[in-house]
Amino acid sequence: MADTTGKPRKLRSQAWYNNPDNPGMTALYIERQLNYGLTRKELQSGKPIIGIAQTGSDLSPCNRHHLVLAERVREGIREAGGIAFEFPVHPIQETGKRPGAALDRNLAYLGLVELLYGYPIDGVVLTIGCDKTTPACLMAAATVNIPAIALSVGPMLNGWWHGERTGSGTIVWKAREMLATGEIDYEGFMDMVASSAPSTGYCNTMGTATTMNSLAEALGMQLPGSAAIPAPYRERQQMSYETGKRIVDMVWEDLKPSDIMTREAFENVIVVNSAIGGSTNAPIHINAIARHIGVELDIRDWQTIGHKVPLLVNLQPAGKYLGEDYQHAGGVPAVVNELMKHKLIHEGALTVNGKSIGENCKNASIELPDVIRTFDTALVQDAGFIVLSGNLFDSAIMKTSVISKEFHDRYLADPKSPGAFEGRAIVFEGPEDYHHRIDDPSLDIDEHSMLFIRGTGPIGYPGAAEVVNMQPPAALIKRGITALPCIGDGRQSGTSGSPSILNASPEAAAGGGLAILKTGDPVRIDLNKGEANILISDEELAQRRADLAAAGGFHYAPSQTPWQEIQRAMVDQLGDGMVLKPAVKYQKVAQT
Ligand code: FES
Ligand code: MG
Repeated sequence: MADTTGKPRKLRSQAWYNNPDNPGMTALYIERQLNYGLTRKELQSGKPIIGIAQTGSDLSPCNRHHLVLAERVREGIREAGGIAFEFPVHPIQETGKRPGAALDRNLAYLGLVELLYGYPIDGVVLTIGCDKTTPACLMAAATVNIPAIALSVGPMLNGWWHGERTGSGTIVWKAREMLATGEIDYEGFMDMVASSAPSTGYCNTMGTATTMNSLAEALGMQLPGSAAIPAPYRERQQMSYETGKRIVDMVWEDLKPSDIMTREAFENVIVVNSAIGGSTNAPIHINAIARHIGVELDIRDWQTIGHKVPLLVNLQPAGKYLGEDYQHAGGVPAVVNELMKHKLIHEGALTVNGKSIGENCKNASIELPDVIRTFDTALVQDAGFIVLSGNLFDSAIMKTSVISKEFHDRYLADPKSPGAFEGRAIVFEGPEDYHHRIDDPSLDIDEHSMLFIRGTGPIGYPGAAEVVNMQPPAALIKRGITALPCIGDGRQSGTSGSPSILNASPEAAAGGGLAILKTGDPVRIDLNKGEANILISDEELAQRRADLAAAGGFHYAPSQTPWQEIQRAMVDQLGDGMVLKPAVKYQKVAQT
């Protein structure tokens, strides 16, 4: 076999399947692959062995359609001269896993690294989709660094309820408000939420799934135009076939993740994330991928590079449309092309098809101008995250593009200090405590209160809970106050439209300032200066630190499973990607 440059190249799989120096092991490796009908000739022909890392299963319905798509991937692989080996990845279902799917991201990552390293795989198709499946797969590809291409399963079709689009996740926040005010009952609540999931596929909103799938394309790891195609569309099947064909050529070209996932590519990702109104989970996952491929990326880069970028994609929760509209409007290439016109994209960044992102996107056009906007018609200016720090935490992010007019007018419009507000802290010890006490009148919650939640970071609540966006008490909602400032060391769902200050690092359980906050404390947030501080004296701060240490540090619930304990002992903070710290030093492990 020869690669495209005409040079013979022995693939890593041949060390297993065609090693005359060690006939004993070669026979063992080969004989069990023959038992379902592969032939020795095929396995020793030098054809690339292509893994299909299968994330779909009955446990992970968002990705389940990959079981069907894998058939078309296999056909593409065969046609291009490869042999497909499909195998399962530890399933992750965002909405189904207790205590949270994020706990499993690093577990799936570890498992996939072992499979890609330890088996005769020359290249891999990463079947991405539901929130954490995308970063888990890309993190593993980064660590192993064999040729890899991602394939989105695609979003669900648009949901509809009484003539209006209902988007995954986002509808839940609205339905909860309606349930709280008595506009709908339990039955109505269930029907309203289920309407948002009309077909196979992942969340149809710009939640973490659509965000991460779009960013996998912007990073260069998916074929152009692949991210936005809804799961049931014929184009999704066609893209699966093309993806299978392409990975075989990538093996011959030896086009590896490290050739694609460069600093320039990550900067493109940050810019695209702002333009699409991407999830607040994106910095966690993208920073994790960068760390595993060995690219320097700091949480502050998200503000420096991304903040000034306008919001162009009009999808829920920040806007009004859903996944099908995104596809018909032109998807990621149309967004990238608009950003290219304003010189915000490193056009030379290489992608999986062997071309640059600039070449791939230069002819893309916006087909539905209300869904994907131009800079002239942008939905929000300066739509990227801002990064805050102070005595409460070293870093936390805020998605300013989802600040409502109501929120802006109440908290950010004081002419004496625009962009800054002060309030009285109400502190909850995790989601259970919040649900217990939010309607407790003795807390005296009013519009000058700020809701804090702690003990919800990667250590405090294994994997970090998606709980920072907290509803005000029902009494306040009835008075028309539907959002209070929310701050915490956990995460929030990408489908939430709340402008929370979240991913606070270090978390309370790792000694962050949130651990010493008390209900009633005055807190000042200044978005212009990027500051978040408890307004108490240094002496008082020091005293509280001493008291916390004397009490044995911040207390959190014990682990319930072995993995929770293992991960807690070695996980990094949200601002640094929540990676397993010992894993980062293993870079490009299968590169020979
Ligand atoms: Fe799986 Fe949203 S719950 S994509
Ligand atoms: Mg989520």
